[in-house]
Amino acid sequence: MAIPKSEWIWHNGGFVKWDEAKVHISTHALHYGSSVFEGIRAYETKNGTAILGLTPHVQRLFDSCKIVRIDLPYSRDEISSAIVETVRRNGLTSCYIRPLAYKGAGTITLDWRGSPTELAIMAFSFGRLLGSEGVEQGVDVMVSSWRRMAPNTHAGMSKAGGNYVNSGFVTMEANDLGYMEGITLDINGHVSEGSGENVFVVYRGAIYTPPVGASILMGVNRGYIITLARELGYEVREETFPREMLYVADEIFFTGTAVEVTPVRSVDKIRIGGGSRGQVTRQIQEQFFGIINGGIPDRYGWMTPVK
Ligand SMILES: Cc1ncc(COP(=O)(O)O)c(C=O)c1O
Repeated sequence: MAIPKSEWIWHNGGFVKWDEAKVHISTHALHYGSSVFEGIRAYETKNGTAILGLTPHVQRLFDSCKIVRIDLPYSRDEISSAIVETVRRNGLTSCYIRPLAYKGAGTITLDWRGSPTELAIMAFSFGRLLGSEGVEQGVDVMVSSWRRMAPNTHAGMSKAGGNYVNSGFVTMEANDLGYMEGITLDINGHVSEGSGENVFVVYRGAIYTPPVGASILMGVNRGYIITLARELGYEVREETFPREMLYVADEIFFTGTAVEVTPVRSVDKIRIGGGSRGQVTRQIQEQFFGIINGGIPDRYGWMTPVK
């Protein structure tokens, strides 16, 4: 899936043309993964284009930078405004937004604090990662042979570039074996998450999702879906659970910026529930998609308008 070019990229404080946003080969992040990033979506709503979860995404960017020890020379407000302006200036209605903070050309040593921090913000058109069909009918996934990184190895709570080598292994294995996605287990063998999304299981009327201690990235959408599910009257439990609970689940769904809310219809070729989108998933999707397309009032203030 090649990135469709848009016109402008925000780079280190101003806008440059897409083809002119470049880095030097000695850029520290290219060598050692010393970067953090965000993935955000803007949607075309009934009231114009709006960005979903701008505030928590920018907060997570700062949290990731703090963990990875990347000093950001901008305030939250400055970065939020630059994100909005990147969408607006490119004339995009719905799009994917990629803020990327990285250590630039400076040191060759592993103390990257000696390299300058650079920040880029791209925005470009982006469809559904697992397809519209997937959102309606569900996707076939496998439990990956790769584990999610153990605590005190990588910092799984940060959205650090280097962490995505692990996600890449999971994705490539799933692609090679004919699955849409892989679900990782954590170092203790409990369910962790997908390569780029959080996982929820509906089991005997309650909804389960792995806790932060299961090496997950704390998804912005994970938080939103917990809120919506509780509002619908479901008990949501953030707790560890074993692989086999996936097989006996009544429903499973993924949440994340790229996948939005996507049902899982089989795991390791074992059919989940009725083998298609379940009732709980459908109810949650109705609420989620209603809010992001403007059909249901944005009662939590999740959408930031791009004026
Ligand atoms: C590893 C990983 N887990 C979970 C998520 C879901 O997070 P969010 O809902 O903030 O997009 C992502 C996507 O950013 C991710 O890369």
